[in-house]
Amino acid sequence: MSQISDSAFQQAKSLLQKGLPVAIPTETVYGLAAPINNLYAVEKIFSIKQRPFFDPLIVHVASIEQAKKCVTSWPDLAQVLAENFWPGPLTLVLNKNSSVSDLISSGLPSVGLRIPNHPMTLKLIRELNVPLAAPSANKFGRTSPTAAQHVADEFKNESVFVLDGGPCQVGIESTVLLVKSEQISILRQGVITASQIEGVLHKHQQKFTWIENVSKKESPGHMKHHYMPDVPLIFCTKPVELPILKKWLLQHKDQIPQSVEGVSLKPLNKLEKSQELVLSHDPALAARQLYAQMRTLAGSECDFIYFIQKDFHKTETWSGILDRLLKASSLRYE
Ligand code: TXA
Ligand code: MG
Repeated sequence: MSQISDSAFQQAKSLLQKGLPVAIPTETVYGLAAPINNLYAVEKIFSIKQRPFFDPLIVHVASIEQAKKCVTSWPDLAQVLAENFWPGPLTLVLNKNSSVSDLISSGLPSVGLRIPNHPMTLKLIRELNVPLAAPSANKFGRTSPTAAQHVADEFKNESVFVLDGGPCQVGIESTVLLVKSEQISILRQGVITASQIEGVLHKHQQKFTWIENVSKKESPGHMKHHYMPDVPLIFCTKPVELPILKKWLLQHKDQIPQSVEGVSLKPLNKLEKSQELVLSHDPALAARQLYAQMRTLAGSECDFIYFIQKDFHKTETWSGILDRLLKASSLRYE
């Protein structure tokens, strides 16, 4: 670590020790972190983010040993998945023990755990010697931050210290996987796909089945809308010329809600200036750039943003990206 980042690191560490939330870098998105043993600091995360208490926080650990200390049992499936995907963008939801408070788990008997793949954050967790609870460092329902500047912009009125670890390499949030003794279910899509998970479990001769229907109770925080930019995003499921899209929007713009699940949205008043969100054809690059692109377009004073889904987006590697785009959109053209 350079001298500058070392002093920033010490500052982040001392603020966390004092019970103040700090924004931390991870490979997925920046998180707003607090030590799990300081509930005063954890509560502050909810107030800074304006996050409802029913949406549980992910707990970040630095080792498998530390993860095991947060749960009542550690199934073989969890061991294989952790050994193969950690550090990395996979969160395992397992039965929690009393070291993880109900505030963090939103009253659920489970906890989401992962080892993030970022040296600064791993060092921070090791030196503090306590796991860090951290949701994405954005206001509730809004686009996640993938650079330190995004966090600073998001919380300009809340004076949150940001540990700058550079741009996030993955770019979308972790895959969240519910793990029971021999059953699994993806609760949130990410860059680690169902096929990759299956591949690893088969390779290690693990017996498992996919859970067909997960109850809403076991999977909170899954709103219809999320990750929304400040400007309406129109998701087009088929090719369309801009003049036709504008004409269609003129007839349908009243369908754009003014607020969704407590998150207010800008109405679509004018249809003059638009911006197309064009993603890289490489899904890894597209994920890395997605949120920064959404922020840049939303900041360009346009009236609306539109995204046109192509056939190649329909494969599994794009599922995490498409999930984010659909949830971020205000209206679908189909
Ligand atoms: O990549 C990520 O996962 C990022 C970085 C910072 O690690 N974190 C993140 O946290 O995206 P957040 O709070 O924005 O999303 C966490 C989501 C919750 O909304 C919920 O859907 C799910 O993870 N989750 C967490 N704990 C859970 C639990 N015990 N049971 C079910 N779902 C849980
Ligand atoms: Mg989030």
